[in-house]
Amino acid sequence: MTILGISGSLRADSHNSRLLRAAERELPAGARFEVWDGLRDMPPYDEDLDTEEPPEAVARLRDAIARADALLIATPEYNSSIPGCLKNAIDWASRPRLESPLRFKPAAVMGATTGSFGAVWAQAEMRKVLGSAGARVVDGEVALAHAQDGIAEDGSLRDEGRNLQLHELVHLLVEEASPERIAA
Ligand SMILES: Cc1cc2nc3c(=O)[nH]c(=O)nc-3n(C[C@H](O)[C@H](O)[C@H](O)COP(=O)(O)O)c2cc1C
Repeated sequence: MTILGISGSLRADSHNSRLLRAAERELPAGARFEVWDGLRDMPPYDEDLDTEEPPEAVARLRDAIARADALLIATPEYNSSIPGCLKNAIDWASRPRLESPLRFKPAAVMGATTGSFGAVWAQAEMRKVLGSAGARVVDGEVALAHAQDGIAEDGSLRDEGRNLQLHELVHLLVEEASPERIAA
């Protein structure tokens, strides 16, 4: 099983990219983790470019999602919502609607912020957007507030409660993506 991780931050020192790596530590044996790093290359969505031969970065994203068994997205919160570049990537991946690799794709969302609320609004928005694109979004979250203090040197989360949330979210996602569940 392959889980595709997407961080909604372009920052080299991103807390959300670190949170993805913390999630990787929770994967059961046999599950593979791949991080998609093409966010910066995505052009703004333009229906005129969304043809049989879309821009290369778009084709790569659609292919990465199609090949993955599940998606794990870590989003920052920008002005109480998700970053525009992340929304833009999901917009590209959501088309053409009936052929979108997001349709029926198991997905989970988590978030890290330096503020006190752990990107809970951004996570809710991300779940809404993914659900609208047809993904099977699992019902859970990881809200990592004060992220600058929350991740230890070894990449694990310092707070036991957050670690438990992370463990549960990853396992819910793996369960949702298990072949028996997909066949059902
Ligand atoms: C444009 C912008 C808007 C932001 N708005 C919010 C916000 O509404 N709520 C919040 O908790 N943090 C907000 N922040 C803080 C980010 O969530 C914080 O910088 C976070 O660490 C960014 O994620 P990253 O470390 O993965 O890059 C904002 C940051 C930026 C740059």
